[in-house]
Amino acid sequence: MIRKIITTGDGSKTIQIQDWNEQYHSVHGAVKEAYHVFIDKGFKYLTNEAISILEIGFGTGLNALITLIEAEKNNRLVNYTCIEAYPITIEEISQLDYIETLKAEAFRKVFFEMHKSNWENEIKLTPRFSFNKQKKDFREISDSNLYNLIYFDAFGARVQPELWTELIFEKMYKALTANGVLVTYAAKGSVRRAMQAVGFVVERLPGPPGKREMLRAIKE
Ligand SMILES: C[S@@+](CC[C@H](N)C(=O)[O-])C[C@H]1O[C@@H](n2cnc3c(N)ncnc32)[C@H](O)[C@@H]1O
Repeated sequence: MIRKIITTGDGSKTIQIQDWNEQYHSVHGAVKEAYHVFIDKGFKYLTNEAISILEIGFGTGLNALITLIEAEKNNRLVNYTCIEAYPITIEEISQLDYIETLKAEAFRKVFFEMHKSNWENEIKLTPRFSFNKQKKDFREISDSNLYNLIYFDAFGARVQPELWTELIFEKMYKALTANGVLVTYAAKGSVRRAMQAVGFVVERLPGPPGKREMLRAIKE
C-alpha cells in the first residue's frame, strides 16, 4: 500500500495510507492528538513512579518519543513495549521531522535508536527508559498481567474492523495488571460496548482537536 507524508492541522506531519484514505494520526493535529489521548489521558493519569506500557501500533514512533520526553521530564521509570507488523523506513522517519517539530534535539539520537533497534530485544534508551519492539500481529499477543497502561492506536474500525473486537479487547484486558488502563482515540459505541463486554469500565472523555470524544477503559 502506498504511504504518503502529509501535514496535519497543527503543522506536524503524519503518514497517509492512500488506498484506505486513513492516517497514522488525526488530520486535525498529529502531535496534539498524541499528547491529548496518550500522554494527558493515559500516562499522566497514572501516578505510579514506575510504569509498564504496551503500545498497539508503534508506527512512526511519535507516541514512544513523547512518552520518553515526558518520562525524562518527570523522572518516571518506564518499561515501554510496542507491537508493529509493518514498520516504516528510516527515510520516512526523517521526513516526518518529529525532532524538529517537538524541538527535542536532545532526543534525536535515542529516537533513531528506537527505530533501528533489533526486534524482540529489550534495550535501555536512558537509565530510566527501557524499550522493546516486537514485530508481530496484534492478534498474537498473549501477555498476562504485565502492563499498567495500553496505548491502543490501531488504524480505525472503518478500515480494520477485526482489530476493534471483543477478541482483541479480551487480550488487552488480560495483558493489563489490576487497575490497568487502556486509552484510545476511538469513541464509537460498538468499540465501547466490546470493551465493556470483556469487563472494562469505560469512560468517555473529551477528544483531541476535531473529535468530540475518546475512550479510557479501566480494568477494575
Ligand atoms: C494508527 S497507526 C499507529 C500510529 C503510531 N502509534 C504512531 O505514533 O505513529 C497503526 C499502526 O498499526 C500497524 N498495524 C496495523 N495492523 C496491524 C496488525 N494486525 N498487527 C500489528 N501491527 C499492525 C500499522 O502498521 C501502523 O503502524
